[in-house]
Amino acid sequence: MSARITASIYTSHVPAIGVAMDLGKTGEPYWQPLFAGYEPAREWIASHMPDVVILVYNDHGNAFSLEMIPTFALGMAPSYEPADEGWGARPVPNVDGHPALSAHIAQSVIQQDFDLTLVNDMLVDHGLTVPLSIMFGQPDAWPCRVVPLAVNVVQYPVPSGRRCLQLGRAIRRAVERFDDDLDIQVWGTGGMSHQLQGPRAGLINQPWDTAFMDRLIADPVGLADMPHIDYLREAGSEGIELVMWLIARGAMADCADAAGGADLAGGADAAGGAGRAAPSVAHRLYHVPASNTAVGQLILEDRS
Ligand code: DHB
Ligand code: FE
Repeated sequence: MSARITASIYTSHVPAIGVAMDLGKTGEPYWQPLFAGYEPAREWIASHMPDVVILVYNDHGNAFSLEMIPTFALGMAPSYEPADEGWGARPVPNVDGHPALSAHIAQSVIQQDFDLTLVNDMLVDHGLTVPLSIMFGQPDAWPCRVVPLAVNVVQYPVPSGRRCLQLGRAIRRAVERFDDDLDIQVWGTGGMSHQLQGPRAGLINQPWDTAFMDRLIADPVGLADMPHIDYLREAGSEGIELVMWLIARGAMADCADAAGGADLAGGADAAGGAGRAAPSVAHRLYHVPASNTAVGQLILEDRS
């Protein structure tokens, strides 16, 4: 039996959410409603525990500094330690990787013409650890393995929505050819609307965020055409993190290309959908504020 992608999860990665957990503040009035909102997602995953999460996130100048910024960087390592982001490493478990799956994804996805950077040794920052904390709480060890996929959304030019959706498709094809009985989820992290600096710092755009989630569910191929300037104008400078959600969405069955991936690089997307059922929405959350950010969370289950 081959590996299969069963679900995708979309979630903000605000560092202060991790800090609230690490310092035992989740019951305080500011945080309590948000963590109550996470409860259904935690219940869902307790009964849908993956073997591996392919975790799409962005590094924030921690693993790669600003000296070298790969566009798509795949973690190949057996384990990853949390980065010290200036206030000490988070007191969370090391992240166990899956080197054999990483090697297979690298082989398959690069043969599908995506030039991934292979990272054999790296630290992981809040972009990766906070989503794990949001979903799994504070265990002594994370309950599944993780293959990190770091995407540049820090220095322009960052990848287009279309490129991200296509990478998700390529990842699905890779997974379906991995000859091991693994239940795999793809998580897209970052967002939602937020801007951390400049005159518009603190920007939140709830109508836009809501529409983004609606389209992510129902019209991912159309959403992938949205240009960067729309993210920047409507969702703030850090709202661009949301392009990463399109990688996870592209990995769902209904985004698979009808021709079996013959033309992943093609511009036309007539084949988008391939007649396969749209995923079902297992959970949806929107909450303002968390630090400077609008928090979104979505769980989509494949029906095929
Ligand atoms: C915040 C949000 C982020 O996505 C991030 O990477 C850093 C800070 C914030 O809202 O504070
Ligand atoms: Fe961020």
